[in-house]
Amino acid sequence: MRIVRPDAIARLFKANPSGIALRMIADQIWRRIASRIMAYMLGAPSLYLGPGCRIIGGRNISFGSGIHADRNLWLEAVTSYKSQRFHPTVTIGDHVGFSNGVHISSIESIVIGSNVLMGSRIYISDHNHGAYKGEVQSHPEESPLDRKLGGGGPVSIGNNVWIGDNTVIIGPASIGNGAIIGANSVVRGVIPSCAIAVGIPARPIKLFNSRSNTWEKA
Ligand SMILES: CC(C)(COP(=O)(O)OP(=O)(O)OC[C@H]1O[C@@H](n2cnc3c(N)ncnc32)[C@H](O)[C@@H]1OP(=O)(O)O)[C@@H](O)C(=O)NCCC(=O)NCCS
Repeated sequence: MRIVRPDAIARLFKANPSGIALRMIADQIWRRIASRIMAYMLGAPSLYLGPGCRIIGGRNISFGSGIHADRNLWLEAVTSYKSQRFHPTVTIGDHVGFSNGVHISSIESIVIGSNVLMGSRIYISDHNHGAYKGEVQSHPEESPLDRKLGGGGPVSIGNNVWIGDNTVIIGPASIGNGAIIGANSVVRGVIPSCAIAVGIPARPIKLFNSRSNTWEKA
C-alpha cells in the first residue's frame, strides 16, 4: 500500500486545490459505496467498513445493527485450515465500534455483546497454532503454520465493554458486562462484570460499586 505523507498532501493541495478536494470527495463516496456493497453481501445493511477491512467466512458471522469498523478490521470465521474442518460462529451485537487494525479469528465461538468499544490493534481468538498442553502436543520442529489449530476455547464479551489498545484476548475467555480492559492487556479466563482489569494476565484492579456509583480498588 502506498502511504502518502501529510506534507506531500499539503503541497499537492496548494498546487491544485480543487482537483485534490474533488479526489478526496470521490474517495469518500467510493468508500461509502464499497462499504454498502460489502454490508449488503454480508446481510448487514447498517454495517460500516472502512478502508482495508477484510471479512472472511461471512456466512458464519452474524452482525447486529449500527456496527462501525474504522479501518483494517480483519474478521475471520475459519471453516477450514489445511486438512481441518470447523463450524465457527461469530456473533456481534448492536452498536459495536472497532478502531484501527482489530483482528478477530474464530474456529469455534466468539460472542461480542452490544455497545462494545474496541481500541486499535486488538487480537481476539479462540484458538492457537498448535497445542501446548493436553494429550497430543505440538513439536517445536514442526512449522507453526503446519501445526493444527486448536488449544483455545470460546470467547464471550459482554455488553458495554471497553477494550483498550493492543489488547490480546485468547479463549477460553469471558468478559462480563460493563468491564474495561486496560491498554496492552492479555486476557484469558474470567473478567467479572463491572471490573477494570489490566496487565498480563489481566486482573481486576477496580470494581464498580453501584451503591456509591464509584469504581473502588479491587
Ligand atoms: C485502565 C484505564 C481505563 C485507567 O483506569 P483508571 O481506573 O483511571 O486507572 P488509574 O489511573 O486509577 O490506575 C490504577 C492503577 O492501574 C495502573 N494502570 C492503569 N492502566 C493500566 C494499564 N493499561 N496497564 C497496566 N496498569 C495500568 C495504574 O498505573 C495504577 O497503578 P498503581 O495503583 O500501582 O499506581 C486506562 O489506564 C487505560 O488503559 N485505558 C485504555 C485507553 C485506550 O486504549 N484507549 C483506546 C481508544 S478507544
